[in-house]
Formats: sequence, C-alpha cells, structure tokens
Amino acid sequence: MRKQDHWKDGEVAGSYDRTRFAGLGGALKQRRDESLVLRLLAGAGPRVLDLPCGTGRLGPALRRRAGKRGSIVGVDLSRAMLDAGGGRAEAFSLRLEGSVFRLPFRGDAFDAAVVLRFLFHLDDTAERIQALAEIARVTAGPIICQVRYAATVKHASRALRSRVGLAPRFRPSRGRRQIETEIEAAGLRVDALVPVSRVFSDKAIVRLVRR
Ligand SMILES: C[S@@+](CC[C@H](N)C(=O)[O-])C[C@H]1O[C@@H](n2cnc3c(N)ncnc32)[C@H](O)[C@@H]1O
Repeated sequence: MRKQDHWKDGEVAGSYDRTRFAGLGGALKQRRDESLVLRLLAGAGPRVLDLPCGTGRLGPALRRRAGKRGSIVGVDLSRAMLDAGGGRAEAFSLRLEGSVFRLPFRGDAFDAAVVLRFLFHLDDTAERIQALAEIARVTAGPIICQVRYAATVKHASRALRSRVGLAPRFRPSRGRRQIETEIEAAGLRVDALVPVSRVFSDKAIVRLVRR
C-alpha cells in the first residue's frame, strides 16, 4: 500500500483523532499544537489554508482567530479523513479533496498556510521541496510547518535506544542548519523555529517566509 493510500482507509481515518488526541496526553498535545500555530500566525491576514487538513482538528482554533469574516480553507487527499471530522466542517469556509502537489488556487490566494504532521511523512527530499514550493506559490505570507528536530531529549533518547537495538524504526532527525538548507531549496527561509517540547517531542514548528 502506498503511504498516501493509508489515509484513505476508513478505519485509519475514523481512529485518527481517538488514537492521537484523546485522553489527557492527547488533549495537551492538541492544545500545544493550537497555541503554537496561533502564536506563529500572529500578524498574518485572515485567509488561511490548512493543508492537509485531515480531520480538521485545527479548524475551530483557526476560525476563532479569523472570526466570521476570515476564510479558512482545508485541503486533503483523503475523503475518509475529511469525512471523519464530522461537525468540524463548520469551522471551514471550504474543504476540498486535493493534492498538495497541485493546488487548485491562483498565486497568493492565501495570507498564510498551516502544514502540520505532513512533511515528515514524505521520505523523499525532492518531494518535500516540491510540496513546499507549491504551498509557497499560493501563500503570500507565513507558512507554519512541523518538522522533525534533532535538538531534543526525545530524539537523543531514541538515537541511544536505536544504537543498542531497541528502536529498530528510528530515523535520525535533522538539526537547524539541515532544515534551513532544505527550506531554502523551496525558495523560503526559516523565520522562527520553536520545539514542540524538548523533552516529550522530537518535533518543532517552524514559520517560513519567502526569501
Ligand atoms: C498525519 S495526517 C495530518 C493531518 C493534519 N494536518 C493534522 O495535523 O492532524 C496526514 C494527512 O496528509 C494527507 N495527505 C497525504 N498525502 C497528501 C497529498 N499528496 N496531498 C494532500 N494531502 C495528503 C492524508 O490524507 C492525511 O490526512
């Protein structure tokens, strides 16, 4: 099964929120994502693209920020993920099935874009750069993305466990310079980088702007 087809499975989509964002730990993770995204969006205009929007878990927070007049557009390749969001559809002005590699929008259609839990699922560097370049084409202002980040306790402990054979699926994260080099290849630069939690997460949220 291709990786992107995984998300088209009804059971995978139906359990997405429950397996990641339920319970106390999950709710804290969700709260942290929302507050970092809103903080890094400060100063951006009201037309926001949420991509891939998945089940729409960021929709309500983006709508509260934008107010009734703002425009929140969600795009995702998986109809099952879009449908699993249920009542959250109301937070969006529009939600579409579509691919990040070919977005059906004119240049600079959005003031900002939010791209959480996506880029690190693309194993190929060229694909990540292509996706970012397409998002940058339609986004005049900041792009808020999530990346794996090496300067965290969680990453160090995973690296250690992998050396003694306890973490067979470990994939090394990257440091700030490596992240910046890739981002620059897409015509962007890192304007801010905030670790999600240096102890409990090996991810960071970055704000990208045009070079
Ligand atoms: C881990 S989920 C993240 C969803 C959401 N951003 C979040 O933070 O919960 C990854 C999503 O990427 C979507 N996806 C995978 N490949 C895609 C593509 N080429 N274009 C648009 N969406 C894609 C999947 O359907 C899935 O909903």
